[in-house]
Amino acid sequence: MTNQINNPQTRQWQEMSQRHHLAPFSDYKQLHEKGPRIITKAKGVHLWDSEGNKILDGMAGLWCIAVGYGREELVEAASRQMRELPFYNTFFQTAHPPVLELAKTIAEITPPGLNHVFFTGSGSEGNDTMLRLVRHYWACKGQPEKKVVIARVNGYHGSTVAGASLGGMKYMHEQGDLPIPGIVHIPQPYWFGEGGDMSPEEFGIWAADQLEKKILEVGEDKVAAFIAEPIQGAGGVIIPPDSYWPRIREILAKYDILFVADEVICGFGRTGEWFGSDYYGNRPDLMTIAKGLTSGYVPMGGLVVSDKVFEVINEGGDFNHGFTYSGHPVAAAVALENIRILREEKIVERVRTETAPYLQARLRELTDHPLVGEVRGVGMLGAIELVKDKATRKRYPEELAVGMICRGHCFDNGLVMRAVGDTMIIAPPLVITREEIDELVTKARLCLDLTLREIQG
Ligand SMILES: Cc1ncc(COP(=O)(O)O)c(C=O)c1O
Repeated sequence: MTNQINNPQTRQWQEMSQRHHLAPFSDYKQLHEKGPRIITKAKGVHLWDSEGNKILDGMAGLWCIAVGYGREELVEAASRQMRELPFYNTFFQTAHPPVLELAKTIAEITPPGLNHVFFTGSGSEGNDTMLRLVRHYWACKGQPEKKVVIARVNGYHGSTVAGASLGGMKYMHEQGDLPIPGIVHIPQPYWFGEGGDMSPEEFGIWAADQLEKKILEVGEDKVAAFIAEPIQGAGGVIIPPDSYWPRIREILAKYDILFVADEVICGFGRTGEWFGSDYYGNRPDLMTIAKGLTSGYVPMGGLVVSDKVFEVINEGGDFNHGFTYSGHPVAAAVALENIRILREEKIVERVRTETAPYLQARLRELTDHPLVGEVRGVGMLGAIELVKDKATRKRYPEELAVGMICRGHCFDNGLVMRAVGDTMIIAPPLVITREEIDELVTKARLCLDLTLREIQG
C-alpha cells in the first residue's frame, strides 16, 4: 500500500488482514508489515483502492476480466439464476438447464472435435481432472501403464497438488515434495532468457525436440499426455519462437500420446482468437479452461474433451471424480452471459483486428527505453524484459529485484503491471480501448523511467 493512508477504514482492513487472512502466494510477515492494498470497486478497465486511487488494471484481475468490470448483464444473469435455482449438483444422473446450455455453447466455440465438457470450480481443478481423466482413458484402452504426463519447466497449471506438480515452478515444488510421481518436465521455449547464442528459430526447434527426447527416455508405452499452455502466462508471457509449435505438432503426430492445451489464460479471446490453440493451429485432445470463461465474476473452470477421448471413456464405466460445484448453475448462467457478450459485441474480433495490433505497436515503442531488452506480445498479452545490457540480454543482479521496483512504481502511479522476476507482464481486459491503451503505455514508460532513476541511485 502507498505510505500515505488517509482513510481510517484502510487501516482497519489491514488489521483484519494481519489478524485473520491468509492470502495466496504471500510472504505473510512482509504482507503484514506493509499491509495489503485494499481494492474496493471497479468499472470497465479501472480499479479503485480504499484510498480513492484510480488504477488501470493491466492484468484483468488475474487474466480473468474479458468483458470488463461492472457489466450489469452478468449481475442480472447471476441474480436471475439464484432466484430460479441457486444450486443443485450434477452428480448421480442429474443436470440443470444452465450447465447443459453452457456445455453446448462451449462446444460451439472450441476448435472442431472438442465437444464435451467436465466442469470444475477452477483451472487447477481442471488440470486435476485432466490428470485423472487421461489415466482413466488409457486404462479404458487396456494400457493402464501409460500414466506419465510430460509438462514444461516454468509452465503454470495451478496450485493444487496435481496442478503444482504439472506446473514447472521450482519454488512451488520445493514446498511439499512435488512433483508427485508420474509427472516429468522438459525445458521451456523461452528464447530471451535461455536461448543463448541460438537464433530464436533454432532454439524453438531445440526446445520442441526435448519433447521427443523425453518421450523416448520415458518410453512411449508409459507416456499418457503432454500438457502445455499455448503461451506461458504466469511464467512471464513466454511466446514460443515460430518454429516451436509446428515442430511439436510433428512430434505429437509420431507418438500415441494425448495433447492437452492449458487454455486457462489464452482461452476466450486473449490471443485475438477464441483459443490459443486456434491462434497456433494446434489440435489438442483436451483443453483446460477457466478465468475468461466467466470473466472471473464467479469461479468456474473445466476440461473440454475431444470426441476421440470421449468415445473411449463413454464405454469405460464410472469416472470416479467430481466436485460439489461442478457445473454450478449460477456460474454456468454467468459464463453463458459472458460468452453471449463476447460473441454479440464481437469482442474477440475487435481484439484481433483493432485493439491488439494497436496495443502491440504501442508497447513496442518502449523498446527504445534504456531498461528494456525486449518487448513481445500476442493479442492482449505483453511482456517487457528489464535488462542491464540490451545487447547481451544481461540482467541486473537478482537481489536488486528490479521487476518488483518497477511493479511498485506502477501501483503508485495508477497501473497494475505484474513482475515475474525482471519481466513485466500485462494482460488487460479485452475491452480496453485505444485511449486506455495510450494511458497504459504512457504510465508504463513513466514507471520505467522511475525504475531506472531508482536503480541508478
Ligand atoms: C495456465 C493456467 N492454468 C491453470 C491455472 C490455475 O487456475 P486457478 O487459479 O483457477 O486454479 C492458471 C492460473 O493462473 C493458469 O494461468
